[in-house]
Formats: sequence, structure tokens, C-alpha cells
Amino acid sequence: MAKIIAISNRKGGTGKTTVAVNLAAELAALGRRVLLVDLDSQGHCATGLGVQVDKGAPTAHDIFLDPRANLNAAARRTDDPNLALVPADQLFEHGSGPRDERRLALALAHEDIAADFDLVILDTPPSLDHLLLNALTAAHWVLVPYVPHQLSLEGMRQLMRVLFKVMSGANPQLKILGLLPTMAAEHIRQHRLVTGEVSRQFGAPRVLAGIRNDIRLAEAFGAGKPIRRYAPKCRGAEDFAALAATLAPLVDER
Ligand SMILES: Nc1ncnc2c1ncn2[C@@H]1O[C@H](COP(=O)(O)OP(=O)(O)OP(=O)(O)O)[C@@H](O)[C@H]1O
Ligand SMILES: [Mg+2]
Repeated sequence: MAKIIAISNRKGGTGKTTVAVNLAAELAALGRRVLLVDLDSQGHCATGLGVQVDKGAPTAHDIFLDPRANLNAAARRTDDPNLALVPADQLFEHGSGPRDERRLALALAHEDIAADFDLVILDTPPSLDHLLLNALTAAHWVLVPYVPHQLSLEGMRQLMRVLFKVMSGANPQLKILGLLPTMAAEHIRQHRLVTGEVSRQFGAPRVLAGIRNDIRLAEAFGAGKPIRRYAPKCRGAEDFAALAATLAPLVDER
């Protein structure tokens, strides 16, 4: 079965989609067959990978409208070999669909997904709704990107409460893959203080080496390319390559 990582934070704009797209592209470049599933109707994963989604094309959200919808059939090739995308439905209303938190887990358990992919990465919306619950119920791991600002701590505490609820109910196998500082600047005192506080509250071994602030990451999105193809020598590309190298052995564990 493919390993499944949910990229989540209850707070908006913490770099979830940037991490989902670039981590997926790096792991694909390392030879893992990766499926990126965009659960956020903002649809930014397609933008970041330069994938055009035509009206009526199959999307990730189809499974919430029709339990027989096949995610593998909705997967699109990208310009990165080994990386496929199931795009979001930009018209999906986040409160809509049945309150069934197992829909995504069932869709990802399909034999076609196991045959074609080593890893599934789920980009999730910044909300505590049934889309997030579906992602956390389906995932083996959750990766939490956070901006090291004071306000991030409350959002992380809220997410942790949801995680522990899911771990003690629908998905006991769920583990925290790591807390990932994003848009981080080592020299800013506030960033150091908040990451210190995150280590103290959630455990230092959980805090991963971060993704530094790099405008090239924002530009790469506009260009519809992952950073490894847009600006392979910039510090954002370096940080994502290092993150992928750290996580790849976990993905390979049987
Ligand atoms: N390391 C970084 N350095 C500079 N800019 C970044 C970095 N990471 C993300 N950004 C920029 O910050 C903004 C928010 O990032 P992103 O869309 O990835 O966050 P998000 O958590 O997915 O947001 P949302 O909650 O709306 O889904 C984007 O404009 C993105 O280009
Ligand atoms: Mg996003």
C-alpha cells in the first residue's frame, strides 16, 4: 500500500501548498512514484505544477459526491516524471457532501493506487472541517508547516487536539511526521523564540529543519513549476531537497 502524508495546519497561509507541491516534486525526483491530492478547493496545487484543469474534469472532491469515484482515474500527469496530481474542484463548497470521514481512506485503499504509487501527499484546506478529518483519517502521517510567529502556537494547539481525537478514534495508526517551520529567518529573534516554544510544547525531536524564507518559492508558483525546476540553486530548493532526503527513508519503510 502507498504511504500517505497529510500536510495540514488549521491556520491559513502557513506554506502547506508550497510544501505539498515541492516535497512531492523532490520525492518524485528521488524516484518515488508520488500522487499529490489537492483537497483544498482553492486549487493551488494545479497552479503550482502548471496543470490546466478544464471544466468538468474529474477532481479529488468527486469522492464526496459519488463514493464510486476513482481517484486513480482522476490523476493527471505533470511535467515532473513520477509525479501525478488529482486536482481540486474549485466549485466544491467546503461545508457540503456527506459527513463521512472515511471516504478518502476508502478511495485511497483502491488497488490501482497501491499498484501505481509509493506515496500519496494530501494538501488540505486551512479549516477544521470534514475534508481535514478525511485527510487525517486516511493518512499514516501528518506534516505540519507553521510560520514561526506568536499566533501560530494557538493554531497548532487546535490542530493537535483534532489529531489526538483522530488518533484515539478513526485512525489509531496516524503519527506526527514533523512540525516544519516555513518562511523561517534564523536571524529574527521572534522566529527563534517561537520555534523554541514549539520544541518545548510539542517535543524537540518533532521539529524538522525548516524551509527558509525565499521569494523564489512564491515566484515558482506563478511560473507553474516546482522550485527544483524553477530555480534549482536557490535556498528554497536546497531546503526542500534536504527535507525530501530526510523523509525518503521513512517513505520506504515497510
Ligand atoms: N518559504 C517561503 N518563502 C517565501 N514565501 C513563501 C514560502 N512558503 C510559502 N510562501 C508564500 O506564502 C504564501 C502562502 O503559502 P501557501 O499558499 O503555500 O500557504 P497555505 O498554507 O497553503 O495557504 P492556505 O491556508 O490558503 O491554503 C504564498 O504566496 C507562497 O508563495
Ligand atoms: Mg494551501
